[in-house]
Amino acid sequence: MDDNALSATRRTFLGAMTAASYSRVLGANERVRIGFIGCGLIGLRHIADFKKLPEAELVAVSDIYDPRIERGQADCGGPHVKGYKDFRKMYDDKNVDAVVISTPDHWHALQTIMACAAGKDVYVEKPMTLFVKEGRWMTAAARKYNRIVQVGTQGRSGPHMKEVVPMIRGGHIGKLTSVRIGAFRNVMPGFGRTPVSEPPAGLDYDMWLGPAPKKPYTEHRCLYHFRWFWDYSGGQMTNLGAHDIDFVHYIMQVKGPTAVYSSGGRFALEDDGETPDTQDAILDYPGFTVVISLREASAGRARGGNEFFGTKGSMAVGRGGYEIFPDMNIAPTRQIPPWSDPPGHPKMADVPRTPRTEAKKGGEIGGEPMGLHAQHFIDCVKQRKRPVADVEDGHQVNTACHLANMSMKLGRKLRWDPEKEEIIGDKEASAMLVRPYRKPWDQVLRSFNL
Ligand SMILES: NC(=O)c1ccc[n+]([C@@H]2O[C@H](COP(=O)([O-])OP(=O)(O)OC[C@H]3O[C@@H](n4cnc5c(N)ncnc54)[C@H](O)[C@@H]3O)[C@@H](O)[C@H]2O)c1
Repeated sequence: MDDNALSATRRTFLGAMTAASYSRVLGANERVRIGFIGCGLIGLRHIADFKKLPEAELVAVSDIYDPRIERGQADCGGPHVKGYKDFRKMYDDKNVDAVVISTPDHWHALQTIMACAAGKDVYVEKPMTLFVKEGRWMTAAARKYNRIVQVGTQGRSGPHMKEVVPMIRGGHIGKLTSVRIGAFRNVMPGFGRTPVSEPPAGLDYDMWLGPAPKKPYTEHRCLYHFRWFWDYSGGQMTNLGAHDIDFVHYIMQVKGPTAVYSSGGRFALEDDGETPDTQDAILDYPGFTVVISLREASAGRARGGNEFFGTKGSMAVGRGGYEIFPDMNIAPTRQIPPWSDPPGHPKMADVPRTPRTEAKKGGEIGGEPMGLHAQHFIDCVKQRKRPVADVEDGHQVNTACHLANMSMKLGRKLRWDPEKEEIIGDKEASAMLVRPYRKPWDQVLRSFNL
């Protein structure tokens, strides 16, 4: 970033601090004026969802790529919608009450913190963070500036959750002993390789990089493909894990695992991505385990999604629905292979073969509650209430994902204190909880004293 840009940053963030927490109190009939940051794959979907809500007014968009600003404006309703290439200018705009952040992961924390300081409420996409400490800073900023910060784990807004949560917590599938999470697909041979080149005309690559390390532009480091590079993302463990581990935290009311082990690698894909194409992790929670298996280079027969295993059966839980698979009541001795009856062998007992619990299903497992999550955000902004997917929830869920990646990189099991948010007895791992920001964004972060 050049000196002019640096002083613009100083002006803007100092301005944001002195004008800290500018915000208007919204009347019941008033609309929430929203600005969208990042008009890519999910950003445009958010625009489409918010556009359907009568209490939302789409007033501004920001992107670092000119054609995407134009597309964002058009999707919001036309040229009267303000377009900003520099999101900080949008933060200075008093006509924006709230922002929806759909930029790559490495921007989520700082853009959220700066929005809070500028008095804007925030809907920030998942994975909420790039490294563990960011989530604590974001939570501190939300509380300090009294802002609503909702994370984009839309599954929590699924209507089926009203049934799923009391059923699992109330023992419908018995005592919960484990959760199995899987995502299996085959994208061999990968997305190819892209050489170092000039960024496309109209794309401000330095502003795309923001706090991330300065690296020469390649197409794959930037739009969409950033999710396969460690500088900007945690790969599928954070991309998909942020949704799936979120169900575990929400349903089981847990703050985090006590131990995590993960193994994997980029074993087969032949492109220039860095994150694993194959990864497994085991997370210990009090009284149950979570196993997550991620496959990018082999789809197999395995069913993906989340399955909660209890002593009476299991429940598959998706973003839009659930299904319960009862276990049958069978005498334990009936489950021994009936090959022979050696002396002293357990004697077969009979119990009536009945289901241990009631089979049920609701909603659509593959359903998508994005519109409901958007409406929930509007409700929270107007009623000043904490969202169902609050910033602190996002922090704890993403911490679990990051711990898995850290364990994989270090090649050992990590022990975690979810109350103190500390790694137990591993200095090398503890040092990985924080990563440096590039100048001048490190100064911007420090200026908030979080
Ligand atoms: N909740 C979900 O189901 C879901 C689905 C897809 C993506 N996501 C998340 O949304 C985020 C974005 O993913 P995507 O697939 O839309 O990526 P994308 O690359 O298609 O879009 C990101 C956009 O942000 C813009 N951008 C980058 N830096 C910016 C800055 N400083 N200011 C303004 N704009 C900037 C880029 O130019 C780009 O247009 C990721 O964190 C991803 O994990 C969530």
